[in-house]
Amino acid sequence: TTPTTTPGYDHDDPALAPSPITPVDLDLLKATVLFGPDDEAALRTAAEVLDGRIEQVLDVWYGFVGSHPHLLAYFSTPDGEPIGDYLDRVRARFALWIVDTCTRPYDERWLAYQNEMALRHTAEKKNKTDGVDSVPHIPLRYLVAFIYPITATIRPFLAAGGHDDEQVEAMFQAWFKSVTMQVTLWSQPYAGTAW
Ligand code: HEM
Repeated sequence: TTPTTTPGYDHDDPALAPSPITPVDLDLLKATVLFGPDDEAALRTAAEVLDGRIEQVLDVWYGFVGSHPHLLAYFSTPDGEPIGDYLDRVRARFALWIVDTCTRPYDERWLAYQNEMALRHTAEKKNKTDGVDSVPHIPLRYLVAFIYPITATIRPFLAAGGHDDEQVEAMFQAWFKSVTMQVTLWSQPYAGTAW
């Protein structure tokens, strides 16, 4: 792992609280979204393809959020003023998340950071990492609905690396499975025991 100066990026922080989700539950979740070794391999290839294109991916995602006031609101003060520093700092962690999604082993450390990212969308930890005065909580419905734009918009970038259709499709499906699985993990603190 490479050291990082990205503010608030805690994947490698050994003090990170463990996830309440067990590795066994993670394995069952992987099986449920049909995530296997071929998907891991496809994501490693996706990392190579996306390398050098991450800022463009983020431009698309931020353009999407920025053009929807009901979404931009979660990066804004309670009276609706977007917070530039907050957008920038989250963007830097988002860039690392793309790489993490493609390259990290989905193990206990990854689960712990998944839990941290989940909580950062909820009243328990939102705004704290960056010390900002923004709205306290992101509704679960938007996390779930985000699976579509975060997945659909990645496809042209995966296709830009000169791989054949079958390889692009494999990378795309692996990405789709991983994002679905991560949002499923992130729904745990929202759902509590119903998870
Ligand atoms: C934080 C991804 C849904 C708003 C983050 C981070 C990532 C991420 C990687 C940085 C985590 C970190 O701090 O290390 C995603 C994914 C989503 C999703 C994959 C669903 C597929 C949403 C939605 C919104 C949103 C629907 C609301 C428009 C935010 C905000 C933060 C954040 C405001 C900063 C939280 C804080 O204060 O620490 N997200 N996100 N996210 N996301 Fe999301």
